[in-house]
Amino acid sequence: MALDLSGLRRQFPALDREWTFFDNAGGSQILGTAIDRVVEFFTSSNVQLGGSYAPSVLAAERVAAGSQALARWLGCDASEIIVGGSTTQLLANLALAMAPQLAAGDEVIVTNADHESNIGPWRRLPGVTVKEWRVDPETLLLRAEDLEPLLSPRTRLVCFTQASNIVGSVHDVAALTHLCHEHGAKVVVDGVAYAPHRRLPVREWGVDYYVFSLYKIYGPHLAAIYGRRELLAGLAPINHFFIDELPSKLQPGHVPYELMPALPAVVDYLEALDFADVIAHETRLAARLLDFLRGLRGVRIHGAATASAARVPTVSFSVDGRHASQIVRAVDAQRIGIKHGDFYARRLIDALGLGDRGGVVRASMVHYNTIEEVDRLIAALASELCPKAAAIRPTAAPSG
Ligand SMILES: Cc1ncc(COP(=O)(O)O)c(C=O)c1O
Repeated sequence: MALDLSGLRRQFPALDREWTFFDNAGGSQILGTAIDRVVEFFTSSNVQLGGSYAPSVLAAERVAAGSQALARWLGCDASEIIVGGSTTQLLANLALAMAPQLAAGDEVIVTNADHESNIGPWRRLPGVTVKEWRVDPETLLLRAEDLEPLLSPRTRLVCFTQASNIVGSVHDVAALTHLCHEHGAKVVVDGVAYAPHRRLPVREWGVDYYVFSLYKIYGPHLAAIYGRRELLAGLAPINHFFIDELPSKLQPGHVPYELMPALPAVVDYLEALDFADVIAHETRLAARLLDFLRGLRGVRIHGAATASAARVPTVSFSVDGRHASQIVRAVDAQRIGIKHGDFYARRLIDALGLGDRGGVVRASMVHYNTIEEVDRLIAALASELCPKAAAIRPTAAPSG
């Protein structure tokens, strides 16, 4: 069955405007129901937690419901979920809590493809030996055969991304986790770029730690990290000395109370989506854009240049002789929001040699985007990159 796109889009108040949003890998639009729950919290339970008076009890229930909903979505226990303001903050906290477990000479493997939030905190750990797992320069994929020689009896941790926020390629998290576990290493998986597009069965994958940002999966500006209970229990507390229960011991300060009640609304929405339909639709969107870009002389698509279920619809490219900002500005003028840059995957952009050319131009789509919107982007790019041919309209494709 095809997605009911107009029904889905009606649930996002911001999609009703005249802008087309193609910076979804930076941040998605938020569900109207999620906004309503935030307003409801402010209007009927905006008090401190921990009191025995009714509004305080209600506030505590609403905050707890946020973690419970995430646990439902991931198929884990609510005590295995830690919420924070961002993935960057959560990973920095995780490294802090893990540091006392790591001895001098222990090895940690990081990639050159991740967002820096899953590289920097591990590289900064005192005393550990850091090894770099580099992407295949042709495909820009992280390959198991390149990881294997880096694994040793001293490897304690392998930190990698499930999907690249630049090229959208999806890695087989279950297989890579299995390989790491065979060598006695734990994994920290960055699921930020993957989570908007697929289900997240963390226990089936067998991952140790998994992090994703809620403001990219149709919710408010929060992030969450899952950790296997016994591992979280063994981490050093980073909260006040008298707080030692999970998840509070790893959640210094309070979560933003008013945003937590939005999370059940997000999970309700995700649970109602048919992800086979989502994948089919997103693959059509990516195919439409990639087919156009492949036909342009001087345009280099980074990563897989054809659409498939093995990538999410995040498309990055560069144009010979052009600074990325020139292309983005031309598209801005058509009321289409895309961006250029390194998107904090600085090491990957440097490996591509694009550091001084404004990085890549990135258009990132999610299931609520339409073929018509992609065609508007194609028309804007066509008039900037091949003005003579811009009069030729892209061939019609069934809209999903
Ligand atoms: C793949 C990936 N990892 C991590 C992050 C950091 O997320 P946050 O903004 O929640 O810190 C981002 C943000 O764009 C990302 O795309």
